[in-house]
Amino acid sequence: MKLDNSAFGRNLEPLLDVEALRADTPGCEQVVHFNNAGCGLLAAPVLATMLDHLRLEAQIGGYEAAAARAGQVREFYAELAGLINCHPENIAFAGSATHAFSTALSAIPFEAGDVILTTRNDFISNQIAFLSLRKRFGVRVVHAPDAPEGGVDVAAMAWLMRKHRPRLVSATHIPTNSGLVQPVAEIGRHCRELDLLYMVDACQSIGQRPIDVAEIGCDLLTATCRKFLRGPRGSGFLYVSDRVLKAGYEPLFIDMHGARWTGPDHYQPAESASRFEEWEFPYATVLGCAAAARYARGVGVEAIARRSPALAARLRVQLDAVPGVRVLEQGPELGAIVTFTIEGWQPEPFKAAMDARRINSALSFREFAQFDFGDKDVDWCLRLSPHYYNTEEEVDQVAAAVAELAV
Ligand SMILES: Cc1ncc(COP(=O)(O)O)c(C=O)c1O
Repeated sequence: MKLDNSAFGRNLEPLLDVEALRADTPGCEQVVHFNNAGCGLLAAPVLATMLDHLRLEAQIGGYEAAAARAGQVREFYAELAGLINCHPENIAFAGSATHAFSTALSAIPFEAGDVILTTRNDFISNQIAFLSLRKRFGVRVVHAPDAPEGGVDVAAMAWLMRKHRPRLVSATHIPTNSGLVQPVAEIGRHCRELDLLYMVDACQSIGQRPIDVAEIGCDLLTATCRKFLRGPRGSGFLYVSDRVLKAGYEPLFIDMHGARWTGPDHYQPAESASRFEEWEFPYATVLGCAAAARYARGVGVEAIARRSPALAARLRVQLDAVPGVRVLEQGPELGAIVTFTIEGWQPEPFKAAMDARRINSALSFREFAQFDFGDKDVDWCLRLSPHYYNTEEEVDQVAAAVAELAV
């Protein structure tokens, strides 16, 4: 494969004070964390915010602490809205991206024969959810083909939109199994033109690159806060457009937070996206997410979006030169996820060898990406996902570790 080595060299992003950012990140002293696509390292202010709230809960009571911090809790919505260019009323907290996704899906009144149009690189759990809908409701799941250079063929997808008039179009911005960046805004332009319901999984892109829901033209967008956004585990959110709210979509199992029980046999859904939330909230986590979003915006998402993929590009160039290593990324635009295979190793021992060098990584298996790994003819790969607080030296150290293990 041909790799762009323009990112080779130092000072990949002069606007960021990487040393200060690392000083803010206690985990940097312990590990070379190249598993941001799994879970980013918490920044000190995020950790402090959560610990502070847990302490307050212990001191004055959980409900009382939530009441005392109601103003800060509201900032969760404002911070996330600021990050993706919508109003706070369009944001719902969720315990995970998958929960956000399935809650949103539950709001769509699928009928037998309805088409869900998706891509060959949509997230494993989304694909399973579509198949489950097929089993229960008889919907049809159609996958748009990939372009020869990698990534979805938008023209072919648009043609399928016209042919099937899908009930839902769904695309994962950056898959879990490769650094591919899908052209979600281009897909969105066709959805808007045809007035099709469009859901985007931005789990790997939030915190890694700017996301503008208006530009993407999506109706629904799901994400976690724990990956490139560097928020706590057990958190995520759902964006719900005004269009969808006005059209009256509501989750199947709406609860006493999402709706008012207005009479013995009726209820009134909330006006805002809070109709997609549940009553019980992990408040320390919600506050941690607000702090993480604020932190990312403070660092500067544009600068992050230049540095993180540039570190990944530097890593790809070095790995590509290692005999026995095959870098798997394909596509016109690549993000901060690097995937590769290595000859002569089984997955767990290879990851353990990286762990032993205090290099955090993750394994991906064929089951995570039936189409993509089938096309690439690989059964597993190692995934490395640097972020802006990683250094060029760490990239070189990780590449050297792989080279040492490859011989
Ligand atoms: C692209 C993508 N979508 C969705 C998810 C699911 O996120 P969660 O574990 O928060 O449900 C992941 C997790 O790895 C992911 O990579």
